[in-house]
Amino acid sequence: MKTIILGDNAVVLPTLPDAFARVIYIDPPFNTGRRQKRDRMRVTAAEGAGDRGGFGGRRYDASKVASGSFGDEFDDFEAFLLPRVESALRCLTPDGSLFVHLDYREVHHIKVALDRLLGRGCFQNEIIWAYDYGGRPRDRWPAKHDTILWYTMNPDGYVFNYDEIDRIPYMAPALVSPEKAERGKTPTDVWWHTIVATGGHEKTGYPTQKPLGIMNRLIKVHSTPGDVILDFFAGSGTTGDAAARHGRGFVLVDDNIEAVTIAAARLAAHGPVCVGFSPPT
Ligand SMILES: C[S@@+](CC[C@H](N)C(=O)[O-])C[C@H]1O[C@@H](n2cnc3c(N)ncnc32)[C@H](O)[C@@H]1O
Repeated sequence: MKTIILGDNAVVLPTLPDAFARVIYIDPPFNTGRRQKRDRMRVTAAEGAGDRGGFGGRRYDASKVASGSFGDEFDDFEAFLLPRVESALRCLTPDGSLFVHLDYREVHHIKVALDRLLGRGCFQNEIIWAYDYGGRPRDRWPAKHDTILWYTMNPDGYVFNYDEIDRIPYMAPALVSPEKAERGKTPTDVWWHTIVATGGHEKTGYPTQKPLGIMNRLIKVHSTPGDVILDFFAGSGTTGDAAARHGRGFVLVDDNIEAVTIAAARLAAHGPVCVGFSPPT
């Protein structure tokens, strides 16, 4: 199953089959109170004098390219998110996992609400994605992490492929044996990972795009090849990209035509079925 759907997830979710997804991962708007928008600069070789100089005396023209945007302001974020999560749970297998990616603004309210919805016993981990990029205010500690809440449908039966966990370097390799230092260690619930690099090969230009490294780890450990991953706030399709790279299927839903168009282009090589819109040619 490799499907990208344009539509409000409140409308789309009830139309999806029962128990088809091993993992639901969502990265909803964070209620930042502002429109999420990112413009890119496109630089092309100039015919004439050009706007700016470059390597070897060449001249270039630079122009701004609008790369999509979405609204991110809610009076009652919990009232927006919780009914959608509740509606999606039907799509999970009995041993499935739910991941909800938020930041400091809403995560504490939503954690309490999810505990009420699923039961505290189904809560497994609070994964902190720590990064270090951007401005540093001088009147508080810079907020440089997101939180991914992990719940399982069944607290005693779920997928956790320990052997699929990637290894990271020891902080003090001199304190462990050379063999251990060579092998590295498994990460904790704090995942250090850079943001999607400006100008890097992953970058789609869609605002709030999440890194493939985070999604690769999550999908490899919490699902098996042939499984299907559902993301109903899919944005640029990072979840689908990671799923396809690891032999999983995906169902991506977003109500923004710019998002699904970018996701469809990104995943074109995997031949997704596009519902509600025409993929770019
Ligand atoms: C934070 S972005 C997701 C970014 C994504 N993880 C990525 O790596 O590109 C949240 C997305 O949710 C979408 N969205 C917001 N409300 C929605 C709704 N009611 N139904 C479907 N999608 C929605 C927005 O259009 C936006 O693309």
